[in-house]
Amino acid sequence: MYSTAFLDLPPFTRAAGTLRLPGSKSISNRVLLLAGLAAGTTAVHDLLDSDDTRVMLAALQALGCTLRRDGTVLHVTGLGGQLATKQAQLFLGNAGTAMRPLTAALAVLAATQGGSFELSGVPRMHERPIGDLVDALRQLGCPVADLGNPGFPPLRLGDGARHALDTRTPIRVRGDVSSQFLTALLLALPLVTAEGPVTIEVQGELISKPYIDITLGLLARFGIQVQREGYQRFVLPQGSAYQSPGSIHVEGDASSASYFIALGAIAGVDAPVRIEGVGFDSIQGDIRFVEAAQAMGAQVSGGPGWLEVRRGAWPLQAITMDCNHIPDAAMTLAVMALFADGPTRLNNIASWRVKETDRIAAMTTELRKLGATVEEGPDHIVVQPLRAWQPASIHTYDDHRMAMCLSLAAFNPLAGAKPPVPVRIEDPKCVAKTFPDYFEALFERVTPVDGAVPVLTVDGPTASGKGTLAAELAARLGYHLLDSGALYRATALAAQDAGIPLSDEPALAAMAATLDLRFVGHEVFLSDRNITDPLRLESTGGMASQVSVHPQVRQALHALQLSFRRTPGLVADGRDMGTVVFPGADMKVYLTASAQHRAERRHKQLISKGNPANIDSLRADLEQRDQRDQNRTVAPLRPAQDAKLLDNSDMGIEESVLKCLDWWAQSRPF
Ligand code: DC
Repeated sequence: MYSTAFLDLPPFTRAAGTLRLPGSKSISNRVLLLAGLAAGTTAVHDLLDSDDTRVMLAALQALGCTLRRDGTVLHVTGLGGQLATKQAQLFLGNAGTAMRPLTAALAVLAATQGGSFELSGVPRMHERPIGDLVDALRQLGCPVADLGNPGFPPLRLGDGARHALDTRTPIRVRGDVSSQFLTALLLALPLVTAEGPVTIEVQGELISKPYIDITLGLLARFGIQVQREGYQRFVLPQGSAYQSPGSIHVEGDASSASYFIALGAIAGVDAPVRIEGVGFDSIQGDIRFVEAAQAMGAQVSGGPGWLEVRRGAWPLQAITMDCNHIPDAAMTLAVMALFADGPTRLNNIASWRVKETDRIAAMTTELRKLGATVEEGPDHIVVQPLRAWQPASIHTYDDHRMAMCLSLAAFNPLAGAKPPVPVRIEDPKCVAKTFPDYFEALFERVTPVDGAVPVLTVDGPTASGKGTLAAELAARLGYHLLDSGALYRATALAAQDAGIPLSDEPALAAMAATLDLRFVGHEVFLSDRNITDPLRLESTGGMASQVSVHPQVRQALHALQLSFRRTPGLVADGRDMGTVVFPGADMKVYLTASAQHRAERRHKQLISKGNPANIDSLRADLEQRDQRDQNRTVAPLRPAQDAKLLDNSDMGIEESVLKCLDWWAQSRPF
């Protein structure tokens, strides 16, 4: 997951490949609640691991459910309808799929068994309506107290006393703001069917009906057959009791699939994008996004549990569509509309306004930043195709879907953007709500425009702090890191192991060309040997300096170094990153510090690791290494002509990092 302040996507031209989707958020949280209420243990397979499921799991645990993880399976032992704890304060983040059903279930349990529970969330959660659900629960006789604005969380459910509930009168709930209110009642009211059937009547036109189908389907898996008349009247039979199915599988998230379906429709030019985990047999309503994508021109094939999408019509065909049945996935259509042949109109999307953010307003604002012409209505949006793209920094409003669908704007070269523009996604970690590794999944399957993946180089003499600076820059930008010195060091170690003299240029070059080197987090492996520690030894640095004077060795490592330049970007440190390996780098820093400062830093480093060291001899060593690195005939250490010089003798690390980030910011178009 990227937890940087922002993530810059280079412009892309193609997409292809296979990916497995994370589990569905809607299914995951419903299954967790049902398993938590049922008696016995349910093995949940392929559960989504995200912010929203994490808050649900934490809530279940606080309520006394037992959770046991076994690889990709989570075993949930439920309460069997009996409160194990009568009081708890539950924080539910911004997870509507946890807040609404837990409100209903805990209101009923608290009232019938004498409990009291406080439910709260992030500030945005406290702006998301829940009044219609609260009204329904109060009709039933459940005490519910507003702890903030009436009709919004936070709430207190129950008052510690037992209350008789009126389960005979049909419970009325509005269906035109959020279908989650009805879902919440359907999931919770089996708890009060001991005396007789319980009827729920929907008032107003029910929105997002497919989500109700998921709820009914999952209730059936837990042994509860709801009888219904259309989507108006639902009856829970007398004696409904949750029965664990023993084991249940969570299918991939159909809303998350929409980004990859769009990816295939826009950029699956040479090969399809294959999506596994959700297919034509899906129980999720958002699978019907496939039809919308087809209407825009996508070629889609599929079967049970899989889809394959490639580009069909191009440009995409503009559509006018009622999107009530696919409220979440429809956001993806708004971005696809930029690539269409005319205006696209999405109707009946008022529910966008009460989601993670006001999505109609957010989408309008952000598409306009890209240069698009957008019309916003109370319950619709019209998006014109875009040809004159502007680089934009996309605000994401703590809304995972804003981040994911706007990332598709990086395909602007395919809509004729001249020049192609990068797209900045602010706060990329918001995707953790449903798809923590979204950007990694995207980057692995896209081809950037030639030369568009940015490279920052940091060159400088030994112990100048360039390694630390480069690593820090890479971490803050979410870029890959190339520590080129490590390649020379590893070559030296491999040569030492193989008994190759450091003067045997051809043998060293052959060795360098076939290095089996792997970087895993902060560790480095040479074949199966962990060389993280030996790599950093002073003696290894000295050997590397000798190895690196050979032109053939440098040549042998050239392609390997270039291969580190991958989406979304690269920070490379060494001696010749800006001069030889990446002469066209987007920003070049040449970092120096006086020999005395460098010797002191290295001394401190060694002492802190418990290695004896002497400043004077370290300084002599450094100067000798500088001499060799600067005076060799190939790729000598020197600043590139267009390098920014940074003498950090009297600067702390943070100061150097901020200086470089500031230079970088000035060179970006945002
Ligand atoms: O940066 P370092 O201390 O890990 O580098 C070890 C040696 O490798 C250094 O003395 C010179 C050589 N080197 C090089 O020649 N070119 C690079 N790009 C990086 C390192």
